[in-house]
Amino acid sequence: MARIAVIPGDGAGVEVAREAIRLLDFINRERKLGLQFEHFDFGAERYLKTGIGLPPGQIDEFQKNYDAILFGAVGDPRVKDQAHAREILLGLRFGLDLYINFRPCKLYADRLSPLKGKGKKELDFVVFRENTEGMYNGIGGVLKRGTPDEVALAEEVNTRKGVERIIRAAFAWAELHQRKSVALGDKSNAIGAHELWRRTFSEVASEYPGIAAKHFYIDALAMQMVVKPETLEVIVTTNLFGDILTDLGAALTGGMGLAASANLNPDSTPLFEPVHGSAPDIAGKGLVNPCAMLLTSALMLSELGHGNEARCLEGAVEKALLENQGTPDVGGSLSTTQTADVILANLRELLRVT
Ligand code: NAI
Ligand code: MG
Repeated sequence: MARIAVIPGDGAGVEVAREAIRLLDFINRERKLGLQFEHFDFGAERYLKTGIGLPPGQIDEFQKNYDAILFGAVGDPRVKDQAHAREILLGLRFGLDLYINFRPCKLYADRLSPLKGKGKKELDFVVFRENTEGMYNGIGGVLKRGTPDEVALAEEVNTRKGVERIIRAAFAWAELHQRKSVALGDKSNAIGAHELWRRTFSEVASEYPGIAAKHFYIDALAMQMVVKPETLEVIVTTNLFGDILTDLGAALTGGMGLAASANLNPDSTPLFEPVHGSAPDIAGKGLVNPCAMLLTSALMLSELGHGNEARCLEGAVEKALLENQGTPDVGGSLSTTQTADVILANLRELLRVT
């Protein structure tokens, strides 16, 4: 038995969560996995009505009584500064201390690569983005707003504990998955504090003699992702740099409609979400690609110990992409629901044979 909290959120999030639950329900019944889904209506609608993003005590409740959270996306043009999105999503990531933001960058079909001569074989790496500190801590502020003397400050937080645990997670994953190298991306040449990343990286790397530790300045690493992505297997980096690199990673592997992620801490309740937002420009028109959310659901299944079913779901998405059965963002002409239907049919086949 596993209790899963489902938070569809806003816009595209609601559309992709609907399809994901439909497919997960099918897998759950077919394989008797004992997954139990409970829906939570946290998002803009509720925030606009009640002023509440995340109700008090909710983080504790998730921490104590749930095995996973499946999250769509939050963001609504009606909410000023996206205050609800910060409260809900950053509230959960920070509140549950989900220090690992795990983002695979994997190309499923050669035709989706924007890079000349780089296909499935070359584009397959994962990013470990630090998820609880860095620039995303809210420390800072604005002085003399709106005047010629305005000062805007934002502090980056790097703690030894925070840096070490994400680097350790990257090496442990590399070892478990037989990867031969881990690359650190920092900016220690210009930001003195990043020396902590470099030093900790060397220390942890020395415990893994079988894994090559490669250091890159973040700008060079972004270039490497484009020029020689085949040399990259596992990347570990700060919160802000990881945010930027993984959008680039998504662009290299078929776009936001395909990018999946997991927010993890082995001692907490994990949260799984597609990398994309609520996509207000295409929401409600049947144009939203459900694949990112389905690949995210596969990450969740895997984390819950259902590796076989996870591979089937991933394979079902891959088959649809290879056969160009998808939404317009990946060159297809199907709607959100039609795409999920095709993937469900693929899934039936794959579950039967494995
Ligand atoms: P976005 O990810 O929603 O959209 C960026 C672009 O990618 C848009 O052109 C959109 O149409 C496209 N796109 C996104 N998801 C897609 C999908 N599944 N299929 C096909 N195309 C897709 O990011 P944007 O526009 O910067 O933000 C929109 C709203 O979402 C904002 O309110 C923002 O704050 C919020 N947001 C929420 C996130 C989350 O909940 N994790 C992450 C990023 C943004
Ligand atoms: Mg981003």
